[in-house]
Amino acid sequence: MKQTVAIIGAQWGDEGKGKIVDRFARPADWVVRYQGGSNAGHTVVVEDEKYVLHLIPSGILHENTLSMIGPGVVVNLRDLFEEIEMLRKNDKSVLERLRVAGRAHVLFPFHRYIDVRSEDKRGEDKIGTTGKGIGPAYLDKVRRRGLRICDLADRDKVHSHCEKIFSELDEGWAEFEKSSVEELAGEYSEYYQQLKDIVVDAPSELDAAYRRGEKILFEGAQGSLLDIDFGTYPYVTSSNPTVGGVVTGSGFPGHRLKSVLGIAKAYTTRVGEGPFPAELTGEMGQWLQDKGGEFGATTGRPRRCGWLDLKILRYTARVNGFTDLVLTKLDVLSGQEKLKVAVDYRGPSGQPINGFPARSEQLAEVEPVYEELEGWDEDITDCSKFSELPAAARDYVKYIEENLQVPVSYLSVGPGRRQFIERKAGL
Ligand code: IMP
Repeated sequence: MKQTVAIIGAQWGDEGKGKIVDRFARPADWVVRYQGGSNAGHTVVVEDEKYVLHLIPSGILHENTLSMIGPGVVVNLRDLFEEIEMLRKNDKSVLERLRVAGRAHVLFPFHRYIDVRSEDKRGEDKIGTTGKGIGPAYLDKVRRRGLRICDLADRDKVHSHCEKIFSELDEGWAEFEKSSVEELAGEYSEYYQQLKDIVVDAPSELDAAYRRGEKILFEGAQGSLLDIDFGTYPYVTSSNPTVGGVVTGSGFPGHRLKSVLGIAKAYTTRVGEGPFPAELTGEMGQWLQDKGGEFGATTGRPRRCGWLDLKILRYTARVNGFTDLVLTKLDVLSGQEKLKVAVDYRGPSGQPINGFPARSEQLAEVEPVYEELEGWDEDITDCSKFSELPAAARDYVKYIEENLQVPVSYLSVGPGRRQFIERKAGL
């Protein structure tokens, strides 16, 4: 693998990044999460055992890889310790291989409460968040009143912070969270005591690792169209899953990034509200949802499904500068006589749409222009070489890379580690 690689979702998240990171984490010395929090759900299947990781990078499943929760992540410490305990059942060395950035912000239970309450208040205008408190935690960060992991060393500071926030919350809060200020401050100070030996200055660690020639993989959560700046605002998450987030969320300089791998599902899905031009609401959408098992790994919500949208991928390839693409879940498409692919959009009166619309209202009313491609019937879950795929599946892949002018270098044809096709050796 190249020395530094970023793995980034090219659509609305749920592209199957967990499996891809797991795959490429083997030769990596480090896997770094740089944004988001436990709104992510990365599923990895190892020898028939399924792991769903929300906060800890998928690299943790490799014994020679160090995993870092970077400064740009908002960390729910209850979730973190739950995950540590889950992993400890099979591997006692988890804490030794984990590092947490002291500059990462802490996501407290009141952030979750505020998230759920503000969604309720928005009614029909809701975003459809995961309810994990992500937006409120980032809001406190930019309002410059958040607490960071390093601040938990000071119990009095945690106490006075919680006291202040508690006093601002409405009456529903006492129902939501039973702990008193005292208990919460104690709980979070105790978390720090358990973590303090692995709390690090991320830029120093990563710089030293880079200079030693170690391999570093940056693991994006969510997807490019959920990016706060480049996504389908306001129906986005509150961080930057795109490549800029690697830099601001880890303290690693952009010019040292050698490869940016975009992960795209062979069709499109989205969870939560917001425009989705190639969405299929009828039988075909249901078929994709059932066959692809399209239910959220974090919330269990059914994912909305649609055809592959190359207008989206052209846009996200531009934003991120993808050097290669991984096409995932290609096996799900087996069994269709014809497949459609959105190649462009037209406005309501048929006018061309230049670029990718910034306004959600405009995106909601575009009509996709479809190309129809041949489907295939064969089960491809056992294919391990590109040449073993049916001709129509190969043509589908070639069509995508020609349209995007980005090579589809890897394909995933099932959930297992081995169900993977490399058209290019290594990373
Ligand atoms: P939040 O990140 O919980 O604030 O949710 C904002 C939007 O991002 C909602 O539409 C969520 O469904 C979506 N979202 C957040 N995390 C993920 C993810 O990991 N996969 C897919 N969608 C996500």
